[in-house]
Amino acid sequence: MLSFEEEIIEETPAVAITPKPTLVATSIAPANQPSVSGRVNANDKRVINGQTDVNQLVPFKYHWAWDKYLAGCANHWMPQEVSMSRDIAQWKDSTALTEDERLIVKRNLGFFTTADSLAANNIVLGTYRHITAPECRQYLLRQAFEEAIHTHAYQYIVESLGLDESEIFNAYQEVSSIRDKDEFLIPFISILTDPEFKTGTMLTDQQLLKSLIVFACIMEGLFFYVGFVQILALGRQNKMTGAAEQYQYILRDESMHCNFGIDLINTIKLENPHLWNNQFRDEIQGLMQQAVELEYRYAEDTMPRGVLGLNASMFKEYLRFIANRRLQQIGVDVLYPGAANPFPWMSEMIDLKKEKNFFETRVTEYQTGGALSWD
Ligand SMILES: [Fe+2]
Ligand SMILES: [Fe+2]
Repeated sequence: MLSFEEEIIEETPAVAITPKPTLVATSIAPANQPSVSGRVNANDKRVINGQTDVNQLVPFKYHWAWDKYLAGCANHWMPQEVSMSRDIAQWKDSTALTEDERLIVKRNLGFFTTADSLAANNIVLGTYRHITAPECRQYLLRQAFEEAIHTHAYQYIVESLGLDESEIFNAYQEVSSIRDKDEFLIPFISILTDPEFKTGTMLTDQQLLKSLIVFACIMEGLFFYVGFVQILALGRQNKMTGAAEQYQYILRDESMHCNFGIDLINTIKLENPHLWNNQFRDEIQGLMQQAVELEYRYAEDTMPRGVLGLNASMFKEYLRFIANRRLQQIGVDVLYPGAANPFPWMSEMIDLKKEKNFFETRVTEYQTGGALSWD
């Protein structure tokens, strides 16, 4: 049941941030912990259930989070800066794209237009308030804006191509291979947005950790990848290059989101080793296995026949390869020993550090802020 949108509207936390002499972490963080008075000592900071003032970004403890925040800002981009004129011409030309290629574009947008809204809502209304490290919150604020840019990008493609907005934006309700993925995700998002949910017990800390793993390693780390490969494969064949360029920027952002999430998860594990028991690890493996099956069904639904040199069985291997990688990154045994990557070119897509964009629609690397010099 996709009632997430309705539920979250009423769950926006009323947050008191008016400075008061007693302002401490507990006034805006959910942890039921006594406050630590005085100046913040970095050693006292914790990613969850922390007692230090979340309004004081420094002194830094989690440098990895701050570094990712800076990297995210340096990678800033906006959708309307990418030309869609070639895509529009190809979409109108009945000979430029096959029906199977058109299905891929529409299914992709059907999944992603709402997936990134789910991601943004999960961060803003769920995850953010349970994280008590200000460096991590700073990254989550950047990530939330990037999710808004991604939703904007998909809307911009839908509008540029003149697609049926209602069909695309309702796909997550109406197309079963998309709906099934979202129905898998929504309970893990809803629990974090529940105003009654509070961390601080073995049960709730494990529930938070599980939701973070589902979000980073399954949603952003697995469920996005069939779609990314498909659109980037179109771009490699000089089709829908504007859309593909935007997907390339989105892939770079999502790769960072996934890596931030993995660092967050591993830091929570280090700080709370009691949460990471055999039963919990088995549960994570089970969720990953279920996710691989859901994403494979999505691959079959979007590619009923071979297209662009791709076929569904190649994706079976690819998903197994990615699932293994995600499990390894958080210290869980792999599910599919020996699975190999049939799309090695995807790693090149994540790395945009080259003088010319792959699709040659832009002549310089798109990077701002971090590269500026005042000399
Ligand atoms: Fe996104
Ligand atoms: Fe993301």
